[in-house]
Amino acid sequence: MADEEVGFVTMANARADKAAPEIGVGMLGYGFMGKAHSNAFKTLPYMVYPPPAIPKLVAIGGRNAEAVQAAAQRYGYQHAYTDWRALLDNPDVQLFDNAGPNDVHADPCIVAAQTGRHILCEKPLARSTAEAAAMLEAVTKAGVKHMAAYNYRFVPAVRLARHLLETGQLGEIYHFRAVYLQEWIVDPGFGMVWRLNKAEAGSGALGDLGSHLLDLARFLVGEPRRVTAMTKTFIKQRPTRGAAGEIGDVTVDDAFTALLEFQNGALGTVEASRMCPGRKNGQVFEINGSLGSLRFNLERLNELEVYWQNDAPRETHGFHSVLVSEAYHPFWKYWWPQGHIIGWEHTFIHEFAHLFECIVNNTDVAPYGATFDDGYKNAVICDAILQSAATGRQVDVTY
Ligand SMILES: NC(=O)c1ccc[n+]([C@@H]2O[C@H](COP(=O)([O-])OP(=O)(O)OC[C@H]3O[C@@H](n4cnc5c(N)ncnc54)[C@H](O)[C@@H]3O)[C@@H](O)[C@H]2O)c1
Repeated sequence: MADEEVGFVTMANARADKAAPEIGVGMLGYGFMGKAHSNAFKTLPYMVYPPPAIPKLVAIGGRNAEAVQAAAQRYGYQHAYTDWRALLDNPDVQLFDNAGPNDVHADPCIVAAQTGRHILCEKPLARSTAEAAAMLEAVTKAGVKHMAAYNYRFVPAVRLARHLLETGQLGEIYHFRAVYLQEWIVDPGFGMVWRLNKAEAGSGALGDLGSHLLDLARFLVGEPRRVTAMTKTFIKQRPTRGAAGEIGDVTVDDAFTALLEFQNGALGTVEASRMCPGRKNGQVFEINGSLGSLRFNLERLNELEVYWQNDAPRETHGFHSVLVSEAYHPFWKYWWPQGHIIGWEHTFIHEFAHLFECIVNNTDVAPYGATFDDGYKNAVICDAILQSAATGRQVDVTY
């Protein structure tokens, strides 16, 4: 990690010695992720300074003409489209950003690759292994840069955890233990949304939340060898939105729990649910190794808890919390004096800056960014979890 001086005296020091290239962005979807991505594109050029590239907001796409036009106006996109094919016909779109629901990931990404666009696609990459494999094949054949938007790799504390692990400072890894808990569908009166429908989402808590944990498991510990899992749908029917008195079938898991064995011998437990009253965005992981342990809690994302076997003095030996905000910590050169903490939305800025660097310098998105290969492997593990839950058997993970 760079030992740069950033702090109370350096905020105006960054200088750009040449103009950064522009990259035309066409984004599909303008909901939750559309907002987060637009915020990152707009903030990046002056906070990541000098920027690797300047995103030019060329096009935004959705289904409803009035709504997509309003989103274009709100975020500053030049053109609005109700057909993603028309969006991809715009020659100024160089980077296709897929922030639509999971059922509109595959086809638009494949056409974007075939027409030579670099691609950023939200997670989970696809609804199934087969769909993810087709997407991976398309980007590989086209030779474009591709990123699956696993943004938690870009939390400074998570990147610090990766640094401690890849430099062997935890020794032999014994455990990866992770939960991702939310509460937003616990009310049975909460109506149907695309995330509760298998045809649109692929899976429930598994693909929505669990896929983040599985990405972190692979990013931090390594490849899983086999899985055993259970899934549960607690509330099987819910009111249909906008249609009084009608009900819809919930066709995905409300929660899952899985045991993993990693190729390096570590054990993992991974659990996600959207039925946990009081849990807002409760992502926590802990890693135990022969020389120490790490613990991360997304709701306190500026901190990494560490425990070192040989720490001193003995009287204060124990887990302690590191505020990951020093000049020498990952990504902090872009931000503030130490202790002036950052938030969830900034992970997208780090993520996109990495992708732009890779595009401009023709370097690899891997290993720090997740690629479509990572998205494909994630889909394989998700399918293995669903298969194990359906059969009650242990399932090997084979890519
Ligand atoms: N990285 C993360 O932390 C994170 C967080 C939330 C969601 N996501 C992922 O981002 C993606 C989008 O989720 P979201 O929360 O923004 O959803 P959302 O429902 O808030 O927004 C979806 C957007 O897609 C548009 N859309 C829906 N169907 C479409 C279609 N057929 N064609 C074109 N546009 C269509 C909608 O109008 C809306 O603008 C999903 O894949 C989700 O899993 C990732």
